[in-house]
Amino acid sequence: MELNRLYYGDNLTILRRYFPDESVDLIYLDPPFNSNASYNILFKEPGTGGEQSAAQITAFDDTWHWTSESEQTFQEIVKTAPATVVNLMTALKDAIHRNDLLAYLTMMCIRLLELKRVLKQTGSLYLHCDPTASHYLKILLDAIFGKENFRNEIIWSYRRWPAKQENFQRMHDTILRYSKTEKVIWNQLFEPLAKSTLKADGGNKILNVFDPDTGKRIRGKKTGEKSLGAPLRDVWEISVIAPTAKERVGYRTQKPEALLERIIKASSNEGDVVLDPFCGCGTAVAVAERLGRRWIGIDITHLAINLIKGRLKDNFPEIAFSVVGEPVDLAGAEALARQNRYQFQWWALSLVDARPFGDKKKGADTGIDGFYYFNDGGTTKKAVVSVKSGKVGVSQIRELNAVVEREKAEMGFFLTLKTPTAAMKEAATGEGFYLDSFGNKYPKLQLFTIEELLNNKSPDTPQKVGLFESYRAKKSKG
Ligand SMILES: C[S@@+](CC[C@H](N)C(=O)[O-])C[C@H]1O[C@@H](n2cnc3c(N)ncnc32)[C@H](O)[C@@H]1O
Repeated sequence: MELNRLYYGDNLTILRRYFPDESVDLIYLDPPFNSNASYNILFKEPGTGGEQSAAQITAFDDTWHWTSESEQTFQEIVKTAPATVVNLMTALKDAIHRNDLLAYLTMMCIRLLELKRVLKQTGSLYLHCDPTASHYLKILLDAIFGKENFRNEIIWSYRRWPAKQENFQRMHDTILRYSKTEKVIWNQLFEPLAKSTLKADGGNKILNVFDPDTGKRIRGKKTGEKSLGAPLRDVWEISVIAPTAKERVGYRTQKPEALLERIIKASSNEGDVVLDPFCGCGTAVAVAERLGRRWIGIDITHLAINLIKGRLKDNFPEIAFSVVGEPVDLAGAEALARQNRYQFQWWALSLVDARPFGDKKKGADTGIDGFYYFNDGGTTKKAVVSVKSGKVGVSQIRELNAVVEREKAEMGFFLTLKTPTAAMKEAATGEGFYLDSFGNKYPKLQLFTIEELLNNKSPDTPQKVGLFESYRAKKSKG
């Protein structure tokens, strides 16, 4: 199994196809669950031939329904899973019946069984969820991993603007930590001592306030070295990502790096393999890279894969990694476009390192599929990117030009699966050039076929700039 790899696809299929038994040291998963009702960035296109898997549609929808696939998976669990798991799932079916929740738990159960298979004997699994389903997931994990391997229920506590409601404000997520066996990779983390404790103990000049062997507190041992603090509690106060934070990449469900940093540091060592099978915009992957771990990420949308690719390339310019499941030739690109136009757009944008723009909501057409940024004499400037998988014509070039003007962008890139006509090329040339601050000329509108991009053609612009540069500085600090 190759490492430092992103897989596009349903994690169940990917795990079964590519992952040997006991090959991963740490798994962090943050699956979707009704957390974002407006997560409908995608919807099934009419007339696409129904090639999408139910898991794929559901992932975009972020809602779960009992379908024939749920029934099939449930039966597979009954036939193949250990008795404890079968008993639990059957009891749940009797108690809650074949409803949306059971559909969700069935989807999770089959994947958690597979994740346990790929976890090494010394490995840990962290399941990130919220109070909607954490109580069900905990009994499911008890059945799969054995309740003796339950290690922690971590509360990630945060603050955000409160909503008006007749409840206490819900301001925490739950992270369930399980080990595969009693022997588990573990690095104790510490948190600063309370000011009052430090004062009583004579400032922070005490080494190891806790004896690492006995875990007991050593009082009054003043060595002149700084205290490590107290062993970290299971309630973690970590702020949500601020709107202006450097690490923000614009993915709705993005988790803070500080959270992943604790998990990865505590439960893996340098060189270990970290897997995130629902990797979103790649927080676990990026933090694993920064901390010198090897990593694997899986996601079912090209939006996520596109963002992670950008995030990694910008923050670790020297990095080598591979992506499995993306089109590698024209036929593959055509198949993706037939399957789902939005998946195709997100993937195509990554061919020019452009960032997807906003969410695809039904009916909203801004004429912008993505933005590409470049540096002109110290100022960041942008190009509008438009992606077409269907028929193309000269009116689309005029439209792109109008969008470039409207957005006060400098350039426009037109990415097309079909070959552009001579009239389209002429119309693009007719819009002239962008002149940078050094007097260099760049065609204002640039047309690319997907085939050309697959053959490494790239936009002609001043120096491209990355969007997610937060790690570079952090990494160089060590
Ligand atoms: C809550 S987000 C994860 C966010 C991530 N922790 C981060 O910081 O960006 C869940 C992700 O799981 C992906 N997903 C949902 N179902 C999936 C499946 N069956 N296989 C792979 N990925 C899936 C979604 O596309 C989404 O990006």
